[in-house]
Amino acid sequence: MDLQSIPAIADGLRKVENTITRLGGSSALPAINEAAERVIHAGGKRLRPALTLATALAFGKKPDRRVITAAACVELIHAGSLVHDDLMDGATQRRGIPTLNADLGHSKALVIGDFMLARAGLAALTAVSRPVAEVLAATTVELAEGQFLETADLFNRERTQESALRSITGKTAALFRASCTVAAICARAEAQDRARMAAYGERFGLIFQILDDLLDLAAPAGSMGKPTGHDLEQGVYTLPVLRTRAKNPQLLDGDVPAILARLNRAEIVEDTLAYCRDLADQAASALPAFREPGIAASLRGLPHSYIDQVAEMTRRPALRKAI
Ligand code: FPP
Ligand code: MG
Repeated sequence: MDLQSIPAIADGLRKVENTITRLGGSSALPAINEAAERVIHAGGKRLRPALTLATALAFGKKPDRRVITAAACVELIHAGSLVHDDLMDGATQRRGIPTLNADLGHSKALVIGDFMLARAGLAALTAVSRPVAEVLAATTVELAEGQFLETADLFNRERTQESALRSITGKTAALFRASCTVAAICARAEAQDRARMAAYGERFGLIFQILDDLLDLAAPAGSMGKPTGHDLEQGVYTLPVLRTRAKNPQLLDGDVPAILARLNRAEIVEDTLAYCRDLADQAASALPAFREPGIAASLRGLPHSYIDQVAEMTRRPALRKAI
């Protein structure tokens, strides 16, 4: 199941693309525009803006200029946060192209990330609405806090599952939640339905991050553009790892090859997928009763369908070779 295959969403996403390009290129300084545009057009699934469009449509709201701008702001915040993430990770490549920190140096990358985040906030305030701008500003605070928690726990072998969950709720799930909430606000959905959409978005965001963390350990070798166990190498003990440690307290002793050798990949895949399927059930049952049954069904099936895609990736033959 793919939101982009729904014509109204595909059409909305084309407009979102134009708006992101315009916002990313709106600096008085051409060098900032060039760099921001490069990041924006490096690719990406546009999952968050698709969620915004789907939510609006599900509530019976056509994606007007405000909805399109809100969706573009969400994606701009995502892209800006990745610029900061790459800077913090010292990453040299993302989506097959050099990162801004590798290309322009740390200081310029830092302020270009700042520009993208701030530009999204300004557009939300001036071209969407104050309530939407408030949600996005609060989400940006959560992103920073979630990332801080991850940083504070680097190489902490005592990291708890609760701490990891709190971190990913802030760094990833909050923006998925906001993708849905801003659309519910634009559609003037009732408070109870907004809260239901927020719960859906947050759970989907958790699934997205937990599966990203799983793929770091269990994707076919070479398919992620980084080596297996990169998170462990960086000192990030993710939820799939911490859930395994609960059954094997010595798991994190020793160096990364030793940890990887101790991990039973089939077991970690099975455990993580089951955990995510439970979250997907929670997401589906959080959804409100919508006016548009077709889009509602797509939203309901989306988290499970994403889990199925990742499950399939972990089963590809290259994985067996990697094991
Ligand atoms: C990617 O996850 C990173 C994030 C989801 C968020 C990063 C957030 C920040 C750097 C805070 C930004 C600051 C503000 C003010 C918003 P990952 O590192 O797990 O995945 P990756 O494999 O894509 O790097
Ligand atoms: Mg990262």
